[in-house]
Amino acid sequence: MSLSDIGAAALRRIDPETAHGLALRLLKTLPPAARSIDDPVLQTRLAGLNLGNPVGLAAGLDKNGEALRGLAGLGFGFVECGSVTPLAQPGNPRPRLFRLSEDQAIINRMGFNNAGLEAFAERLMARPSNAVVGANLGANKDTQDKAADYVTGLKRLKGMADYVTVNVSSPNTPGLRALQGRAALDDLLGRLAEARGDDPTPVFLKIAPDLTPDEIALIVEASVDHRIDALIVSNTTLDRPADLRAPDRSEAGGLSGLPLQERARLALAAAAAASAGRLALVAVGGIDTGAEAYARIRAGACAVQLYSALIYGGPGLVGRIKRDLADHLRADGFASVTEAVGTSR
Ligand code: FNR
Repeated sequence: MSLSDIGAAALRRIDPETAHGLALRLLKTLPPAARSIDDPVLQTRLAGLNLGNPVGLAAGLDKNGEALRGLAGLGFGFVECGSVTPLAQPGNPRPRLFRLSEDQAIINRMGFNNAGLEAFAERLMARPSNAVVGANLGANKDTQDKAADYVTGLKRLKGMADYVTVNVSSPNTPGLRALQGRAALDDLLGRLAEARGDDPTPVFLKIAPDLTPDEIALIVEASVDHRIDALIVSNTTLDRPADLRAPDRSEAGGLSGLPLQERARLALAAAAAASAGRLALVAVGGIDTGAEAYARIRAGACAVQLYSALIYGGPGLVGRIKRDLADHLRADGFASVTEAVGTSR
């Protein structure tokens, strides 16, 4: 066990949101890590981006883009910050973050607490140039025309991130998930396409796992029609599997981690079947091992992201997943991640 893993174990014993703040502060102050070169078998392409490895940090851990250098130093192939909303907002009252240790899961109802678009843009201006950084956009709780907030975010961050994610799947902002219906989505994606113009920055759409295969197929068609570059599958679930054991299992909010794994796999399979190679896919939800990352890649994902497993596995997890994934790829005769994408569909 490394010193940072011991630190992570200590952080798990204190209040989750306090621990989260401490971890971010630590990551902010760490001296820049010597950038390790990834095993070439881990290379992948995601919507035109070249990634040294396919293991990314999911949105929500660094909502304000404060610790990008430290997070990239953990070995991630890409780091997504946000969700950011145009105006700063406090989010929901505490407590709003719950560790379900017995289930290797988290429930959160943070409600897009963040310092707003201007502070975020300032941080992105000072971002590390040697890391692939995504900016995840949300909408303010009090905005009536939610689509307008995404357009504002896209315009303000033009040229600052390697990709932009449109997050219409947080369960903690009333009305947000309704943007995944076809009419609302056509309106949103149409306005975003207009705002993008000929800017080459890829735009990703992040969806919920609580959708039927038919609903996912509609989202895929709308995304292809409106030049979305990738789907991120998926956000947290409102479902509560019957076998959850932790005392906080009935708290309101989005569930992530191990109990989300099966749902996220099914949603990915539905997206892969519907897109048939027309859209890049990023798999998220309960990814905690190299074997799970490998299975999602073979199911059609060009890359994966994780959040909850990092809380339970500590910072050493990223390296372990990458080593394990490289072993799986070699054992099956693949020369790179790219070669393995979609091979079990
Ligand atoms: C999240 N997630 C998230 N997603 C997003 O698009 N914007 C956000 O602001 C947040 N915020 C957030 C906060 C917390 C505390 C958690 C645990 C999660 C969702 C996250 O990016 C991811 O999609 C899910 O957590 C599923 O992945 P894991 O955690 O099972 O690996």
